[in-house]
Amino acid sequence: MKKQVVLYKKLSPPLMARLHEQAQVTLIESLDAQGLDTLREALPRAHGLLGASLKLDAELLDLAPDLEAIASVSVGVDNYDIDYLTERRILLTNTPDVLTETTADTGFALILATARRVVELANMVRAGQWQRNIGPAHFGSDVHGKTLGIIGMGRIGEALAQRGHFGFGMPVIYHSHSPKPAVEQRFNAQYRSLPELLQQADFICLTLPLTAETEGLIGTEELALMRPESIFINISRGKVVDEAALIQALRAGQIRAAGLDVFEHEPLNPDSPLLQLNNVVATPHIGSATHETREAMARCAVDNLLAALAGERPANLVNVLAWKV
Ligand code: DGY
Repeated sequence: MKKQVVLYKKLSPPLMARLHEQAQVTLIESLDAQGLDTLREALPRAHGLLGASLKLDAELLDLAPDLEAIASVSVGVDNYDIDYLTERRILLTNTPDVLTETTADTGFALILATARRVVELANMVRAGQWQRNIGPAHFGSDVHGKTLGIIGMGRIGEALAQRGHFGFGMPVIYHSHSPKPAVEQRFNAQYRSLPELLQQADFICLTLPLTAETEGLIGTEELALMRPESIFINISRGKVVDEAALIQALRAGQIRAAGLDVFEHEPLNPDSPLLQLNNVVATPHIGSATHETREAMARCAVDNLLAALAGERPANLVNVLAWKV
């Protein structure tokens, strides 16, 4: 008999067809109140789940006694209680690698947009306020040759370093759990303690996962170490930053600008003070959001789920301790 899969993300027709060949599929089109009710009704029969952007807590998962695997269409796994899943031997998979380059592109888009004030000045043109040649009040700052500081030198951090080093001639400094000699060699990058990086980088880019250790990593004290010309970029998770402290630092001119793709609460409240600040470029969590990459992520998640349900070890297993040898 085919296994039961609950999808809480719509897939492309070819991926849908692949899943239908192998499994009995329940599709939840939207995670609104009605969709969540349908999910609750489907969980008692589910062997596999596939989707993204849903906090799957124990209260929900306790409704699914036969659950074998969850394929998250994301690289970040902060929506899952990994210890709980491992205890229940539910395999959790994610979609690394396929989104690395696209997410690094997003990081660089924010670097360029904030430094060159692209959004603010484009809005000025659109509003009919470009009446004479612009002067120093509207100048931005250079990106090429400036120091790129990367906090979290994982795959996405490396892809940012590659762009900065080879594309923009930027000296690269980084902070991570431990120094990475191969990265240092490839990008002529130098390891720094967190305070040193915050003091020395022109662009401070967060690419860390959200974990108990990284939550609130950047707060008032860390922002105080940055310089008035520093630009802060976050493409990781909003909760790695104390958002109120960031707003305060931006208002006080403690740092020059911020490029933010992620926020403490998403979607960002339209009344957020961040949106009152001209030196903030805010994007709606678009890190991996291109047609090509989202399709590749969905394909990767389907591969992971089908492998897990067939009793094979999925390629992108997150909680390896849940795998029975
Ligand atoms: C990821 O893959 O984790 C992206 O941030 C989308 O959630």
